[in-house]
Amino acid sequence: MCGIIGYLGNRAAKDILLDGLRHLEYRGYDSAGIATWELDGFAVVRSVGRLDSLVEKLGAMELRGTSGIGHTRWATHGRVSEENAHPHRSCDGKVVIVHNGVVENFLALAAFLKEKGYFSSSETDSEVLANLIAYHCAKEVDQRGHSAFLEGVRKALLHVRGAYGIAVMHGDFPGEMVGARNSSPLVLGVGDGEFFFASDTAGFASHAKDAVFLNDGELVHLRGGDFSICTLSREKVEAARRAVEWHEALVEKNGYEHFMLKEIFEQPIALENAMRGHFSVDGSNTHFGGLQMSPMELRQVDRIIFCACGSARCACLAAEYLIERIARVPVEVEYASEFRYRNAPLDRNTLVIAVSQSGETIDTLAAMREARRKGFRVLAITNGVGSSIAREADGGIYQHAGPEIGVAATKSFTSQLCIAAMVAIYLGRLRDLSCEDGVEMVDALRQVPKNVEEILRLDGEIRSIAEEYANYENMLFLGRQSMFPLAIEGALKLKEISYVHAEGYAAAEMKHGPIALIGENCPAFFLACDGRMLEKIQSNIQEVRARGARTIAVISENCSAAASMVDRAIVIPQTHFIAQPILAAIPMQLFAYHMGVLRGCDVDRPRNLAKSVTVE
Ligand code: G6P
Repeated sequence: MCGIIGYLGNRAAKDILLDGLRHLEYRGYDSAGIATWELDGFAVVRSVGRLDSLVEKLGAMELRGTSGIGHTRWATHGRVSEENAHPHRSCDGKVVIVHNGVVENFLALAAFLKEKGYFSSSETDSEVLANLIAYHCAKEVDQRGHSAFLEGVRKALLHVRGAYGIAVMHGDFPGEMVGARNSSPLVLGVGDGEFFFASDTAGFASHAKDAVFLNDGELVHLRGGDFSICTLSREKVEAARRAVEWHEALVEKNGYEHFMLKEIFEQPIALENAMRGHFSVDGSNTHFGGLQMSPMELRQVDRIIFCACGSARCACLAAEYLIERIARVPVEVEYASEFRYRNAPLDRNTLVIAVSQSGETIDTLAAMREARRKGFRVLAITNGVGSSIAREADGGIYQHAGPEIGVAATKSFTSQLCIAAMVAIYLGRLRDLSCEDGVEMVDALRQVPKNVEEILRLDGEIRSIAEEYANYENMLFLGRQSMFPLAIEGALKLKEISYVHAEGYAAAEMKHGPIALIGENCPAFFLACDGRMLEKIQSNIQEVRARGARTIAVISENCSAAASMVDRAIVIPQTHFIAQPILAAIPMQLFAYHMGVLRGCDVDRPRNLAKSVTVE
């Protein structure tokens, strides 16, 4: 949700900023812009649309400044237009700012500033922030002189309610830059005599050696070839540096047409990485180094609440089926955005688990904070190493899926399913799951990367199915038991990538409403992978066919009886129920991908979406 970048060093800032924005574009792509400090003041160039239009606009412009800030926008306040694009400048021209987040009290601040003679020309809350900083810096200069910039930003932020990750420059302090965060991510990158700000390390990973992840309420001041960190209440903070990891190959398309397709095909490796080191030597159990909970404490847990958004939430719904069936622990899945305000009564022995690919989704983070505030222990499952969720959790499990650039979750989703399966085994073995059953499940999971490779070979066939279905505007996804969450995810994937309206439903529940939609204009996509439910799902297929709808089904080898009932069957390997959700996800991802491409959609950057949603 908006990507910000900042650079202060000895090299020309323009290309470094554009390179950073290229790696942050997944966070928003409504407009983009940069500001650099040139000999005659700030040069600010902004453009509506993708980063490429900014690059085109910058063309041969000679920008030589060695400091600057940049932004790629996902619109919150104000429509998508050049004047609402960042960087924003204060009305006195002194301050430029890039901002990710939402200033909730911006109208009150704007009214105050108007009285003081600071006017906004855009509809954004961010321009108000630029003016507020300019106003406070001007007061500080009058009163103190030298360190007025940092102090001005600090004082301004004391009046701000809401979320921000910002990078700010001031014309009176050209060799300086200030960054600050509250609820929106900001990382400082430290290189050889140069510094970077970015919303995540991808923005500077090819340049910086170390990263410092900032906490809420912290400000960084870059000045005189050094940096210092303090809190909003002016306490000094010791920087915790971490070496920056950079996987060049993982952030390039490597010959694939889209990141989404590349990431779908990376799943065998991502799943290997999710499992690495987690199986016990005798192959009957799993273990996790970072839970920070003893077996005894985990044994006490009598209820688990998962909090997540989007595809991560769909993974939690599948986790609910697996954990309840294998470990017999009651599980509930909450929309993080609802949970945080619901004040749900929680029992003493409830464990909260936050699941988030990015580790930065604001609603998931806030839900987790709410649970911790009440004294509950919160674990995190995340792909975002060093992310806010990872840092604030009491313990957790990293996915190690590698960077996911395509906006739609693919490899991160199946890796979450895989971790959920391993957690189910672990909790099960702490309770009544037998050693033999544990061995069977671990064996099945070990086979998953190979099974996935096999399914990926069906890509051509799935594309041919998408060719037949690309012109439909509606589709139902139907499954039973652990395939029901997969139906929800399949529908989500299709609608976000191809803009086909799709709903995921429990196959039998379909009769209580959605069946009204079924007909020749609304095909149904079935997930028939659960042998126990075969006859039931066959009946549901017949009910749909009887109403003239075309049908597609993902079918496990042991459910092949259903294949003759549908128009197009995608047959996948038979596996243990613990691994079924992972395998069933792959054909749906490929189907959504091809539907999107055939319909001319930008599958890596679907309209209005962003990879990491850091506003409420
Ligand atoms: C956005 C993305 C989804 C993702 C969701 C949750 O909506 O477009 O693909 O599932 O955020 O993101 P998280 O990083 O918390 O898993």
